Amino acid sequence: MGEQAKREIEAAGGLGVTTERRGATAIWTLDRPDRMNALSRAAVRELGRLAREAAQDPTLRAVVIAGSGDKAFCAGADLKERRSMDEEDVRDFLPLYRASFGAIDGLPVPTVAAIDGVAFGGGLELALACDFRVAAAHAKIGLTETSLGIIPGAGGTQRLTRIVGEARAKELIVFARRLTAAEALALGIVNRVAEEGRRALDVALEWIEPLERAAPIAIAAALEAIDGAGDRSLEDGLSLEARCYARTLASEDRLEALAAFAEKRAPDFKGR
Ligand code: COA
Repeated sequence: MGEQAKREIEAAGGLGVTTERRGATAIWTLDRPDRMNALSRAAVRELGRLAREAAQDPTLRAVVIAGSGDKAFCAGADLKERRSMDEEDVRDFLPLYRASFGAIDGLPVPTVAAIDGVAFGGGLELALACDFRVAAAHAKIGLTETSLGIIPGAGGTQRLTRIVGEARAKELIVFARRLTAAEALALGIVNRVAEEGRRALDVALEWIEPLERAAPIAIAAALEAIDGAGDRSLEDGLSLEARCYARTLASEDRLEALAAFAEKRAPDFKGR
């Protein structure tokens, strides 16, 4: 670890992210409750490191990103840390954000943001870099940056637009709208809302539990094909789909699924 990274961890009072493994699922928890789990530089760097490490782990089947407590998933950039940063520092920080959230976005296993509480600014951008979002009934989300005189700088303008379309994205970002979980569900920004009183984290873990037994090569191929759909012509997209499909054709898991079907049993996928 470099000197700069060490200084950042010390200044932020720790990494700001704790990790846990349950079965084949990793849980990464933003853990700065006194700052509503806001993203320090150290935490953004650590998320990138965890994602790059996870990409190399053949035993991993899913990642859930959560926030400690029930008040906040993440209140965005650490605005207290940011006060000590000049314009150049902030400019230097943005590529780190992009790299870390990009590493999460590019993971071959499904990623879920479990939103217990608020997800504002960079907090929602982090959730948008995940494949799925599950929100607690009391959650509030929004890309609120314009109310702070800036714009989303960690992918929010691009990823939100791909999910809700241009007109809605403009409305949400230009008006710095704060949405309830029910509103976010209606717009398709979150996939599920937990029943009143239940933690989004518990609901997310329950929801993705079947993925522990799913075929990892097929899941990774599906994610890559869908992620690539946004910025391609239909023809290019169909070529991408064909390349992703080809990877599943060459897998032992495909043959295992056919054998399991014939033998009337559940398949035992090995990720090969
Ligand atoms: N960075 C650093 N600290 C933050 C923070 C952030 N983004 N958001 C909240 N905190 C801190 C507060 O300063 C406060 O600390 P203090 O007790 O030392 O004053 C503590 O977390 C609790 O926040 P508070 O505002 O008292 O709680 P609340 O329940 O009334 O409101 C929020 C919570 C998240 C709605 C409110 O803090 C807020 O709007 N934060 C900014 C969110 C935002 O605009 N993020 C986008 C960044 S680009």
